[in-house]
Amino acid sequence: MSDYIIKTVSGIDLVPSHLDLVGAEAILYKNPERYHILKKGVDIIKERYDHILIDTPPFLGQFLINGMIAADNSVMVFSSDIFAIAGYDHINHIINDINDILGIKINIGMALLNRWNSHYEKTETFWEKIQQLLGSTSEPKPDSLQEIRTQLEKRISVEIPEVVIISEGKEISHSLKQSIPLIILAPDDPAMPGFKKAASIIDSWKSGRK
Ligand SMILES: Nc1ncnc2c1ncn2[C@@H]1O[C@H](COP(=O)(O)OP(=O)(O)OP(=O)(O)O)[C@@H](O)[C@H]1O
Ligand SMILES: [Mg+2]
Repeated sequence: MSDYIIKTVSGIDLVPSHLDLVGAEAILYKNPERYHILKKGVDIIKERYDHILIDTPPFLGQFLINGMIAADNSVMVFSSDIFAIAGYDHINHIINDINDILGIKINIGMALLNRWNSHYEKTETFWEKIQQLLGSTSEPKPDSLQEIRTQLEKRISVEIPEVVIISEGKEISHSLKQSIPLIILAPDDPAMPGFKKAASIIDSWKSGRK
């Protein structure tokens, strides 16, 4: 792992992804140690850092499992779209399987409800998925996005100890384009309070699985 660390001017070290990883999923399937590869790498360098953030790809494959096993705590992002909602049950299955098969407990320490205050049109299927997830807790049937958000927060809190809402930001795309952290470019951005809250929760996690 040490060979791949890049120092950045921000003071944050980075281990970037690589295009060669495109074919890695298929090769990993043949490796009996496949679930612990990232953890082995991270364990070598973890004493050097206050926090290590692992960004995983948006699909439920080997990289995601490696990320969750390497991490002491996982953060789950719920965008206000149908895939995020539908994925929640799948991810819970995977977490249970990891526990049953490998005997490793995955901790989801925080859920981020991202962009739930935006006023995008929602499809019927979206509402159906939400209803399915909320199940018996959704009485009466929620009819506004605000209400859905409150119920979703309640539903997720059953399994995940911290739920943080991130508002739709105005300057996030500028921040990415200019490579300037949002807190410097636009400290008053509507998304900032959520990001700060999430950061303070992560900061409170000391090393070791809780
Ligand atoms: N709270 C927000 N407010 C405004 N824009 C946002 C917000 N969250 C995300 N975005 C926009 O959505 C884009 C994708 O966000 P992000 O990279 O965090 O998603 P992701 O799910 O990790 O994507 P990927 O699947 O590519 O890994 C960002 O580039 C940003 O422009
Ligand atoms: Mg991503």
